[in-house]
Amino acid sequence: VGADGTRTFRLTAQEGTTRFVPGVDTPTWGFDGDLLGPTLRASRGEQVAVEVRNTLPEATSVHWHGMHLPAAMDGGPHQPVEPGATWRPTWRIDQPAATLWYHPHPHGRTEEHIYRGLAGFFLLDDPAAADVGLPDEYGVDDVPVVVQDRKLDADGDLDLSGGGELGVLGSLVTANGVRGAYLEATTQRVRLRLLNGSTARTYAFGFADDREVLQVASDGGLLPEPVPTTRVQLSPGERAEVVVTVAPGERVRLRSYPPDLGRVVAGYAMGANDTFDVLELRAAQDLAPSPPVAATLTTLEPLPEATVTRTFDLQGRQINGRRMDMDRVDATVEKGATELWEVRNLDLFPHNFHVHDVQFRVLDIDGEAPPPALAGAKDTVYLEPRRTYRLVMRFEDHADPTTPYMFHCHLLLHEDEGLMGQLVVV
Ligand code: C2O
Ligand code: CU
Repeated sequence: VGADGTRTFRLTAQEGTTRFVPGVDTPTWGFDGDLLGPTLRASRGEQVAVEVRNTLPEATSVHWHGMHLPAAMDGGPHQPVEPGATWRPTWRIDQPAATLWYHPHPHGRTEEHIYRGLAGFFLLDDPAAADVGLPDEYGVDDVPVVVQDRKLDADGDLDLSGGGELGVLGSLVTANGVRGAYLEATTQRVRLRLLNGSTARTYAFGFADDREVLQVASDGGLLPEPVPTTRVQLSPGERAEVVVTVAPGERVRLRSYPPDLGRVVAGYAMGANDTFDVLELRAAQDLAPSPPVAATLTTLEPLPEATVTRTFDLQGRQINGRRMDMDRVDATVEKGATELWEVRNLDLFPHNFHVHDVQFRVLDIDGEAPPPALAGAKDTVYLEPRRTYRLVMRFEDHADPTTPYMFHCHLLLHEDEGLMGQLVVV
């Protein structure tokens, strides 16, 4: 933190190698290391600045997924960082506490850049928020967990071939880059900040003994109240925070079970329904006491009545019949407007939908209220085939008629192949 109060981070995108499998060094990319990147953390109200240096052999970019910020700082395809160059975005943190993340977003190359290992957490705190009993000691009882799947070829290199309709589904599943990861729990309760950092796979997380956990947050921050559940389903890009209670000395595995993808044609779900171990919790014999989780976590401010309605039909690699065009603006939004977006997946395979700059609310799905896990602030939502999701969002500020924000499917093959559009706030 400098004299002017700005919190500055430095990230260098670089080449490296990772040993996912014993004896095999796989070429990977990382920020400040061989794979993934450091956790960045800032508080509401703070001015942050990042120096993003690119030492890779090609252009990349760094997008702050879930962040409310000016379009020119967003790190999408219009803010490339050329090899050898440094990009310096700066903005003020102006949203509730949340588990966000950062990842590359170069035009047509996002899938490969994330698959190679470029991703990290960006945690936001809100000092003014009430203490609601969530474990909060980073790395001890408050632990970010990015889950990703990959595939290696015979030489041990990352393999993005044969993706089919969804993109690559690999059977090499890692938590924070590690296969067979474990966490030594030293407290009664542990908060896991789960991120689906995969390019295509949807996970349904749950413990091997089907114990109940409390889901306390989704993409954009705390849920109104804790949701007791045995499964937490996340499509690519989504996050959830869960609090799990452990007993002294026990070991229990977090797994991914077959997700409920909706009315997907069976052939498209090939390999999408596999079960994986993700992370083992190993509890100490002596566990420090944890506070109880409060029954009310936050009060979501009601959004004003929407004044604009738009429809977005996703089909194949197109939104409303058009593929992404860097030179075409698909939606022009008035600064301050609250909008209702009706989003439909017309295919019989999965998509999801992510909007930059805002956190939206899922108003309803085919006219029905969303399940409690979707009742909070979201920036990415899974789209079951043949359903209509009505999303409400407010574009508060940050007008910039010349720099667009993106909205797109976060199945990254789809995004790269054109399932993306551009909006400007004027
Ligand atoms: Cu996580 Cu447009 O991105
Ligand atoms: Cu898609």
